[in-house]
Amino acid sequence: MERTLHKQEINMTEALMNRINELIGHYPEENRKSALIPVLHEVQDAHQNWLSIELMDKVAEILHIKPVEVYEVATFYTMFNLKPIGKYMFEFCQTSPCCLNGVENLMDYTCEKLGVKVGEITADGLFEVRGVECLGACGYAPMMQLGDFYKEHLNEQKIDQIIEEAKAGKIILHDK
Ligand code: FES
Repeated sequence: MERTLHKQEINMTEALMNRINELIGHYPEENRKSALIPVLHEVQDAHQNWLSIELMDKVAEILHIKPVEVYEVATFYTMFNLKPIGKYMFEFCQTSPCCLNGVENLMDYTCEKLGVKVGEITADGLFEVRGVECLGACGYAPMMQLGDFYKEHLNEQKIDQIIEEAKAGKIILHDK
């Protein structure tokens, strides 16, 4: 795996290590690896929502596994970010039910409003737009994930409101 050009300050605080050890403790010692996905979530949340190679190597060391075992998982799932991302990552579902309910128009609208293309970060580092596969909330289409929460039955007015609230620092991203 190529080393990223982006530098990341790694800060394994005592609180973070306690949480990691609690997660590892849910599994038999010989199966520490089973804690990999929840540990990656915790570590990512504590590091501006992305995972550098160095940070993944740290996770491997903690779980007593090979770095490649961490890379395999982190590169497979779109919920893990391998480079810095916008603080507010709009992850629009692009699977059929959301598409049939106009998600692509909403993505275009959002990108235009923010002045970015899909995958780009706004100059202030606040916003990014991304397309993802079905998020299991098809009955609430069109929808997107923002942090740990779903934003459902979206329309242009709701997008405007979300952007305004995010700019005002009123959007909560994590449920803990
Ligand atoms: S198709 Fe969008 S949540 Fe399932």
